[in-house]
Amino acid sequence: MRLEDKVVFLTGAASGMGESHARRVIAEGGYLLMTDIAWDAGEQLAAELGERACFARHDISSESQWAQATELACERFGGIDVLVNNAGILTRGDIQSETVETMRKVLDINVVGTWLGIRAVSPVMIKRGGGSIINISSQVAYRGWPNYSIYGASKWAIRGLTKHMAMELAPHNVRVNAILPGAVDETGLFSGRLGPDLMAQVKESIPLKRFVTKDQVSSLVVYLASDESAATTGTDNLVDGGVSI
Ligand SMILES: NC(=O)c1ccc[n+]([C@@H]2O[C@H](COP(=O)([O-])OP(=O)(O)OC[C@H]3O[C@@H](n4cnc5c(N)ncnc54)[C@H](O)[C@@H]3O)[C@@H](O)[C@H]2O)c1
Repeated sequence: MRLEDKVVFLTGAASGMGESHARRVIAEGGYLLMTDIAWDAGEQLAAELGERACFARHDISSESQWAQATELACERFGGIDVLVNNAGILTRGDIQSETVETMRKVLDINVVGTWLGIRAVSPVMIKRGGGSIINISSQVAYRGWPNYSIYGASKWAIRGLTKHMAMELAPHNVRVNAILPGAVDETGLFSGRLGPDLMAQVKESIPLKRFVTKDQVSSLVVYLASDESAATTGTDNLVDGGVSI
């Protein structure tokens, strides 16, 4: 019960790693507002998780939808202790094959969406005397990679935003940390986009020779959400099988 009675706002909760984080928050005794644009899967999961979970349809690139979802969390659970900015989209391709429309769309969801979340939720945390914000970045924000000019730029921006917001919110006891997962092969975002040949190549390049699991990323989420990490802010938390070495 490492999150006993903590209220967690989790985006991108309907599938992939978000689903895993949602299950762990409930298992650790928390209350959960889970949001996603995929409302069918989200509502189904919330029903399965029971009355401590509540689902709202929410596009993270919309400022008004952030306001509505924040209000819902406050009405239903009385405030917010933890925000997990997990929702994100991936694109992969060399710079000439990518388009400016894709660049703008990815920045709008991954970067503006994360920024809007911190803007909407941090006043609630400040009023409550503190909180923990967890931004999901990526191993592509630790070094350079070919074919990730757009996704990589968005994840470096999230990593940078984390440090700036950690400084800005530290006087209010709001901690802001980033998680940089390596390749997680059980999610649509990754295995759904790369073919089996590329998946095998990626696995071979990982020092531990295995993909990261969703549950291993959820363990970091629980740690950073809990009071066990009370002295930790502004950090990059790698869970990448050693790729960053
Ligand atoms: N899978 C990996 O290997 C990997 C590695 C590093 C980082 N990440 C990051 O982890 C996070 C979760 O990724 P995943 O692999 O579980 O992906 P996923 O595609 O399985 O899940 C992402 C979820 O976000 C939702 N979503 C997409 N756009 C949205 C929007 N505009 N508003 C609200 N919700 C939206 C989707 O509906 C989906 O449920 C992402 O930020 C991703 O960039 C993934």
